[in-house]
Amino acid sequence: MHSFSWYVMLMLMLIGVATPLAHAAETTPAPSNGIDYPKGWQDWRAISVSHRADNNTIRLILGNDVAVKAARTGKTNPWPDGAILGKIVWKAVQMDNWKDANVPGNLLHAEFMLKDSKKYAESYGWGWGRWLGLEQKPFDQGATSCIDCHTPVKDRDWVFTQPAVLPR
Ligand code: HEC
Repeated sequence: MHSFSWYVMLMLMLIGVATPLAHAAETTPAPSNGIDYPKGWQDWRAISVSHRADNNTIRLILGNDVAVKAARTGKTNPWPDGAILGKIVWKAVQMDNWKDANVPGNLLHAEFMLKDSKKYAESYGWGWGRWLGLEQKPFDQGATSCIDCHTPVKDRDWVFTQPAVLPR
């Protein structure tokens, strides 16, 4: 056989081995509170940020395209069906090179509110899911604790976040 054919065969063998390995590493976390994992949120856009002083955590509030569009155009009461809001929470740590700056340390959890006024009618139009740590282990103790704590903002469609002001 020509060396070129050997090369092609070798490449095909490598691809055959590498593909299942790559897939194993990308398995989707199991559902939380019956909510499917919102894949691809790492590439969503920011809506706001917050810092919680009592437990010293930094939060990034982001959204899928439907949510970001609603946030940028002020159509957030109610949020449209299809909107997903995410809140990503890290322990705040001092920046190595500038002690007065707080920056994200360990990832604590990622949690999501999925708007679908029909599907989630029993939980006020939102699906509520949370995944813990870098392993994204599903939290599975039900949405009641989420809803209880979000009750102060039930007149804002259960959402605390005000989109951060951006230049037009
Ligand atoms: C102890 C009270 C508390 C509990 C419990 C709680 N939340 Fe929240 N949540 C808040 C507060 C306060 C904010 C807004 C401030 C912040 O953290 O940025 C918020 C913000 C959010 C946001 C960003 C949108 C918004 O409303 O501002 C999402 C998404 C979210 N929570 C999902 C959940 C889910 C899912 C659960 C249950 C697994 C949950 N929350 C449980 C208090 C709570």
